[in-house]
Amino acid sequence: MADATGNQEAKDYGFDTPQKNTVYELKGANHYDWGMKDRLSRVFDPKSGKTVMLAFDHGYIMGPTSGLERIDLTIVPLLEHADCLMCTRGILRTVVPPTYNKPISLRCSAGTTILTELNDECVGVEIEDAIRLNATMMAVMASIGGKYEAVTVRNMCKIIETGNRYGIPTLGVTAVGKDLVRDARYIGLASRVCAENGAQVVKTYYCEEGFEKVTAACPVPIVIAGGKKLPELDALNMAYKAIDQGAMGVDMGRNIFQADDPIAMIKAVKSVVHDNATPDDAFQMYNDLK
Ligand code: R5P
Repeated sequence: MADATGNQEAKDYGFDTPQKNTVYELKGANHYDWGMKDRLSRVFDPKSGKTVMLAFDHGYIMGPTSGLERIDLTIVPLLEHADCLMCTRGILRTVVPPTYNKPISLRCSAGTTILTELNDECVGVEIEDAIRLNATMMAVMASIGGKYEAVTVRNMCKIIETGNRYGIPTLGVTAVGKDLVRDARYIGLASRVCAENGAQVVKTYYCEEGFEKVTAACPVPIVIAGGKKLPELDALNMAYKAIDQGAMGVDMGRNIFQADDPIAMIKAVKSVVHDNATPDDAFQMYNDLK
Protein backbone atom coordinates (compact mmCIF):
# COMPACT_ATOMS: atom_id res chain seq x y z
CA MET A 1 0.00 0.00 0.00
CA ALA A 2 1.29 3.49 -0.87
CA ASP A 3 2.76 5.39 2.04
CA ALA A 4 0.86 8.52 3.08
CA THR A 5 3.96 10.38 4.31
CA GLY A 6 7.39 11.24 2.87
CA ASN A 7 6.34 11.28 -0.80
CA GLN A 8 8.15 13.45 -3.38
CA GLU A 9 6.28 16.57 -4.35
CA ALA A 10 4.60 16.32 -7.80
CA LYS A 11 6.21 18.78 -10.22
CA ASP A 12 6.38 17.38 -13.77
CA TYR A 13 3.24 18.88 -15.26
CA GLY A 14 4.71 19.66 -18.71
CA PHE A 15 2.86 22.98 -18.89
CA ASP A 16 4.42 23.77 -22.29
CA THR A 17 3.28 20.52 -23.92
CA PRO A 18 -0.42 20.04 -24.61
CA GLN A 19 -1.64 16.46 -24.22
CA LYS A 20 -1.81 14.82 -27.65
CA ASN A 21 -4.80 12.89 -28.89
CA THR A 22 -3.68 9.82 -30.81
CA VAL A 23 -5.34 8.79 -34.04
CA TYR A 24 -5.98 5.09 -34.51
CA GLU A 25 -4.99 4.61 -38.13
CA LEU A 26 -6.74 1.34 -38.99
CA LYS A 27 -9.29 1.93 -41.72
CA GLY A 28 -12.64 3.07 -40.33
CA ALA A 29 -11.67 2.35 -36.74
CA ASN A 30 -10.80 5.73 -35.25
CA HIS A 31 -14.15 6.20 -33.55
CA TYR A 32 -14.32 2.76 -31.91
CA ASP A 33 -13.97 2.36 -28.17
CA TRP A 34 -10.62 1.55 -26.55
CA GLY A 35 -11.16 -2.19 -26.09
CA MET A 36 -12.20 -2.65 -29.71
CA LYS A 37 -9.10 -0.76 -30.89
CA ASP A 38 -6.87 -2.70 -28.54
CA ARG A 39 -8.17 -6.00 -29.93
CA LEU A 40 -7.85 -4.83 -33.54
CA SER A 41 -4.30 -3.67 -32.91
CA ARG A 42 -3.47 -7.19 -31.77
CA VAL A 43 -4.77 -8.52 -35.11
CA PHE A 44 -3.34 -5.79 -37.38
CA ASP A 45 0.32 -5.05 -36.72
CA PRO A 46 0.41 -1.40 -35.65
CA LYS A 47 3.67 -0.84 -37.59
CA SER A 48 2.65 -2.18 -41.00
CA GLY A 49 -1.12 -1.90 -40.45
CA LYS A 50 -1.43 -5.40 -41.92
CA THR A 51 -2.04 -8.95 -40.78
CA VAL A 52 -1.27 -12.52 -41.74
CA MET A 53 -4.03 -14.59 -40.20
CA LEU A 54 -3.62 -18.34 -40.31
CA ALA A 55 -6.96 -20.03 -41.08
CA PHE A 56 -7.45 -23.61 -39.94
CA ASP A 57 -11.19 -23.65 -39.23
CA HIS A 58 -11.98 -25.70 -42.36
CA GLY A 59 -12.86 -28.82 -40.34
CA TYR A 60 -16.16 -27.30 -39.25
CA ILE A 61 -17.51 -27.88 -42.74
CA MET A 62 -14.95 -30.26 -44.30
CA GLY A 63 -13.83 -32.56 -41.50
CA PRO A 64 -10.16 -33.62 -41.50
CA THR A 65 -9.13 -32.08 -44.81
CA SER A 66 -5.60 -32.45 -46.19
CA GLY A 67 -3.10 -30.76 -43.87
CA LEU A 68 -5.55 -30.60 -40.97
CA GLU A 69 -5.74 -34.30 -40.07
CA ARG A 70 -3.50 -33.71 -37.04
CA ILE A 71 -3.54 -30.05 -36.17
CA ASP A 72 -1.17 -30.70 -33.27
CA LEU A 73 1.46 -31.93 -35.74
CA THR A 74 0.92 -29.62 -38.71
CA ILE A 75 -0.53 -26.35 -37.42
CA VAL A 76 0.93 -25.93 -33.94
CA PRO A 77 4.48 -25.49 -35.35
CA LEU A 78 3.12 -22.61 -37.49
CA LEU A 79 1.40 -20.74 -34.68
CA GLU A 80 4.38 -18.66 -33.59
CA HIS A 81 4.70 -17.26 -37.13
CA ALA A 82 1.07 -16.14 -37.53
CA ASP A 83 -0.26 -12.72 -36.52
CA CYS A 84 -3.69 -14.13 -35.67
CA LEU A 85 -5.24 -17.61 -35.50
CA MET A 86 -8.59 -18.34 -37.14
CA CYS A 87 -10.12 -21.52 -35.74
CA THR A 88 -13.13 -23.14 -34.10
CA ARG A 89 -13.59 -23.35 -30.35
CA GLY A 90 -13.28 -27.15 -30.52
CA ILE A 91 -9.77 -27.00 -31.94
CA LEU A 92 -8.83 -24.03 -29.76
CA ARG A 93 -9.74 -25.88 -26.56
CA THR A 94 -8.35 -29.26 -27.51
CA VAL A 95 -5.22 -28.59 -29.53
CA VAL A 96 -4.04 -24.96 -29.45
CA PRO A 97 -1.75 -24.39 -26.45
CA PRO A 98 -2.89 -21.36 -24.42
CA THR A 99 0.73 -20.27 -24.02
CA TYR A 100 1.17 -18.69 -27.46
CA ASN A 101 -0.85 -15.60 -26.59
CA LYS A 102 -1.84 -15.05 -30.20
CA PRO A 103 -5.00 -13.13 -31.04
CA ILE A 104 -7.84 -15.49 -31.93
CA SER A 105 -10.42 -14.98 -34.65
CA LEU A 106 -13.00 -17.43 -33.36
CA ARG A 107 -15.33 -19.11 -35.84
CA CYS A 108 -18.74 -18.34 -34.34
CA SER A 109 -21.20 -19.52 -36.99
CA ALA A 110 -21.92 -23.16 -37.74
CA GLY A 111 -24.35 -25.31 -39.65
CA THR A 112 -24.36 -27.45 -42.76
CA THR A 113 -21.29 -29.26 -44.09
CA ILE A 114 -20.01 -30.25 -47.52
CA LEU A 115 -22.07 -33.44 -47.17
CA THR A 116 -25.36 -31.58 -47.50
CA GLU A 117 -25.90 -28.01 -48.53
CA LEU A 118 -23.45 -25.33 -47.50
CA ASN A 119 -24.29 -22.04 -45.78
CA ASP A 120 -27.40 -22.88 -43.73
CA GLU A 121 -25.87 -21.61 -40.50
CA CYS A 122 -26.79 -20.33 -37.07
CA VAL A 123 -24.85 -18.52 -34.36
CA GLY A 124 -22.86 -21.44 -33.01
CA VAL A 125 -20.87 -19.70 -30.27
CA GLU A 126 -22.53 -17.34 -27.84
CA ILE A 127 -20.71 -14.29 -26.54
CA GLU A 128 -20.06 -15.77 -23.08
CA ASP A 129 -18.02 -18.61 -24.54
CA ALA A 130 -16.18 -16.25 -26.89
CA ILE A 131 -15.20 -14.12 -23.88
CA ARG A 132 -14.30 -17.21 -21.83
CA LEU A 133 -11.97 -18.24 -24.67
CA ASN A 134 -10.47 -14.73 -24.76
CA ALA A 135 -11.47 -14.33 -28.41
CA THR A 136 -10.00 -11.25 -30.05
CA MET A 137 -12.46 -11.28 -32.94
CA MET A 138 -15.59 -13.29 -33.80
CA ALA A 139 -15.91 -14.68 -37.33
CA VAL A 140 -19.31 -15.21 -38.93
CA MET A 141 -20.22 -16.35 -42.43
CA ALA A 142 -22.62 -14.25 -44.52
CA SER A 143 -23.98 -15.85 -47.67
CA ILE A 144 -24.88 -12.73 -49.61
CA GLY A 145 -26.98 -13.51 -52.69
CA GLY A 146 -27.39 -17.14 -51.67
CA LYS A 147 -30.40 -19.12 -50.50
CA TYR A 148 -29.45 -18.46 -46.87
CA GLU A 149 -28.77 -14.77 -47.26
CA ALA A 150 -31.33 -13.52 -44.72
CA VAL A 151 -30.54 -16.07 -42.03
CA THR A 152 -26.79 -15.56 -42.32
CA VAL A 153 -27.08 -11.76 -42.31
CA ARG A 154 -29.23 -12.10 -39.17
CA ASN A 155 -26.48 -14.26 -37.62
CA MET A 156 -23.92 -11.62 -38.52
CA CYS A 157 -26.01 -8.79 -37.04
CA LYS A 158 -26.51 -10.74 -33.81
CA ILE A 159 -22.78 -11.38 -33.45
CA ILE A 160 -21.93 -7.75 -34.26
CA GLU A 161 -24.49 -6.58 -31.71
CA THR A 162 -23.09 -8.72 -28.89
CA GLY A 163 -19.50 -8.06 -29.96
CA ASN A 164 -20.08 -4.32 -29.79
CA ARG A 165 -21.48 -4.71 -26.29
CA TYR A 166 -18.17 -6.16 -25.11
CA GLY A 167 -15.72 -4.45 -27.46
CA ILE A 168 -15.02 -7.55 -29.55
CA PRO A 169 -14.78 -6.93 -33.30
CA THR A 170 -16.61 -9.10 -35.81
CA LEU A 171 -15.08 -10.56 -38.95
CA GLY A 172 -17.74 -10.85 -41.66
CA VAL A 173 -16.80 -13.77 -43.92
CA THR A 174 -18.37 -13.61 -47.35
CA ALA A 175 -19.35 -17.03 -48.66
CA VAL A 176 -19.60 -17.66 -52.37
CA GLY A 177 -22.38 -20.02 -53.35
CA LYS A 178 -22.19 -22.37 -56.33
CA ASP A 179 -24.17 -20.06 -58.63
CA LEU A 180 -22.39 -16.82 -57.77
CA VAL A 181 -19.51 -15.40 -59.75
CA ARG A 182 -16.47 -14.16 -57.84
CA ASP A 183 -16.22 -10.87 -59.68
CA ALA A 184 -15.67 -7.37 -58.33
CA ARG A 185 -19.36 -6.51 -58.56
CA TYR A 186 -20.39 -9.45 -56.37
CA ILE A 187 -17.43 -9.32 -53.97
CA GLY A 188 -17.79 -5.55 -53.67
CA LEU A 189 -21.47 -5.85 -52.85
CA ALA A 190 -21.00 -8.69 -50.34
CA SER A 191 -18.12 -6.91 -48.58
CA ARG A 192 -20.00 -3.64 -48.39
CA VAL A 193 -23.08 -5.38 -46.93
CA CYS A 194 -20.92 -6.85 -44.14
CA ALA A 195 -19.42 -3.42 -43.36
CA GLU A 196 -22.76 -1.62 -43.55
CA ASN A 197 -24.14 -4.03 -40.98
CA GLY A 198 -21.23 -3.17 -38.70
CA ALA A 199 -18.57 -5.84 -39.27
CA GLN A 200 -15.27 -4.26 -38.27
CA VAL A 201 -13.27 -6.49 -40.65
CA VAL A 202 -14.33 -8.29 -43.84
CA LYS A 203 -12.88 -11.47 -45.22
CA THR A 204 -13.46 -12.08 -48.90
CA TYR A 205 -11.79 -13.37 -52.05
CA TYR A 206 -9.37 -11.64 -54.38
CA CYS A 207 -10.56 -11.12 -57.95
CA GLU A 208 -8.33 -10.33 -60.91
CA GLU A 209 -10.46 -7.52 -62.32
CA GLY A 210 -11.43 -4.50 -60.24
CA PHE A 211 -10.34 -5.61 -56.78
CA GLU A 212 -9.21 -2.06 -55.99
CA LYS A 213 -12.87 -1.02 -56.37
CA VAL A 214 -13.85 -3.65 -53.78
CA THR A 215 -11.37 -2.33 -51.21
CA ALA A 216 -12.07 1.33 -52.02
CA ALA A 217 -15.81 0.92 -51.45
CA CYS A 218 -15.44 -1.04 -48.22
CA PRO A 219 -15.03 1.31 -45.23
CA VAL A 220 -13.31 -1.33 -43.06
CA PRO A 221 -10.21 -3.48 -43.62
CA ILE A 222 -10.49 -6.39 -46.05
CA VAL A 223 -8.43 -9.55 -45.62
CA ILE A 224 -8.42 -12.12 -48.38
CA ALA A 225 -8.93 -15.86 -48.06
CA GLY A 226 -6.41 -17.92 -49.96
CA GLY A 227 -8.85 -20.41 -51.47
CA LYS A 228 -7.79 -23.74 -52.89
CA LYS A 229 -4.10 -24.63 -53.03
CA LEU A 230 -2.15 -22.90 -55.79
CA PRO A 231 1.51 -23.26 -56.76
CA GLU A 232 3.45 -21.26 -54.14
CA LEU A 233 4.52 -18.49 -56.54
CA ASP A 234 0.91 -17.99 -57.67
CA ALA A 235 -0.29 -17.73 -54.07
CA LEU A 236 2.41 -15.15 -53.29
CA ASN A 237 1.45 -13.27 -56.43
CA MET A 238 -2.20 -13.21 -55.36
CA ALA A 239 -1.27 -11.93 -51.89
CA TYR A 240 0.95 -9.25 -53.43
CA LYS A 241 -1.74 -8.02 -55.82
CA ALA A 242 -4.40 -8.01 -53.09
CA ILE A 243 -2.22 -5.92 -50.76
CA ASP A 244 -1.17 -3.64 -53.59
CA GLN A 245 -4.85 -3.05 -54.36
CA GLY A 246 -5.86 -2.17 -50.83
CA ALA A 247 -6.29 -5.38 -48.82
CA MET A 248 -5.02 -5.09 -45.24
CA GLY A 249 -3.91 -8.68 -45.01
CA VAL A 250 -4.63 -12.31 -45.69
CA ASP A 251 -6.56 -14.93 -43.78
CA MET A 252 -4.91 -17.86 -45.48
CA GLY A 253 -5.22 -21.56 -44.87
CA ARG A 254 -4.61 -24.16 -47.56
CA ASN A 255 -2.00 -22.14 -49.42
CA ILE A 256 0.05 -22.19 -46.24
CA PHE A 257 -0.60 -25.50 -44.53
CA GLN A 258 -0.74 -27.50 -47.80
CA ALA A 259 2.50 -25.94 -49.11
CA ASP A 260 5.54 -28.20 -49.46
CA ASP A 261 7.10 -26.28 -46.58
CA PRO A 262 4.40 -24.50 -44.54
CA ILE A 263 6.81 -22.62 -42.26
CA ALA A 264 8.77 -21.27 -45.23
CA MET A 265 5.49 -20.34 -46.89
CA ILE A 266 4.05 -18.39 -43.97
CA LYS A 267 7.34 -16.49 -43.68
CA ALA A 268 7.25 -15.71 -47.40
CA VAL A 269 3.62 -14.53 -47.17
CA LYS A 270 4.55 -12.31 -44.21
CA SER A 271 7.34 -10.71 -46.22
CA VAL A 272 4.81 -9.80 -48.93
CA VAL A 273 2.16 -8.53 -46.51
CA HIS A 274 4.33 -6.64 -44.01
CA ASP A 275 7.46 -5.75 -45.97
CA ASN A 276 6.09 -5.28 -49.50
CA ALA A 277 8.37 -8.00 -50.87
CA THR A 278 7.72 -8.73 -54.53
CA PRO A 279 6.33 -12.18 -55.37
CA ASP A 280 9.67 -13.15 -56.95
CA ASP A 281 11.66 -12.07 -53.88
CA ALA A 282 9.23 -13.83 -51.57
CA PHE A 283 9.40 -16.98 -53.67
CA GLN A 284 13.19 -16.82 -53.54
CA MET A 285 12.90 -16.53 -49.76
CA TYR A 286 10.55 -19.53 -49.72
CA ASN A 287 13.02 -21.63 -51.71
CA ASP A 288 15.97 -20.51 -49.59
CA LEU A 289 14.14 -21.44 -46.38
CA LYS A 290 12.80 -24.73 -47.71
C1 R5P B 1 -13.36 -22.08 -44.61
O1 R5P B 1 -13.94 -23.01 -44.14
C2 R5P B 1 -12.81 -21.05 -43.77
O2 R5P B 1 -13.58 -19.89 -43.64
C3 R5P B 1 -11.41 -20.67 -44.10
O3 R5P B 1 -10.96 -19.95 -43.00
C4 R5P B 1 -11.22 -19.84 -45.34
O4 R5P B 1 -11.75 -20.44 -46.47
C5 R5P B 1 -9.74 -19.48 -45.54
O5 R5P B 1 -9.00 -20.57 -45.81
P1 R5P B 1 -8.37 -20.83 -47.25
O6 R5P B 1 -7.25 -19.85 -47.40
O7 R5P B 1 -7.91 -22.25 -47.21
O8 R5P B 1 -9.45 -20.58 -48.27
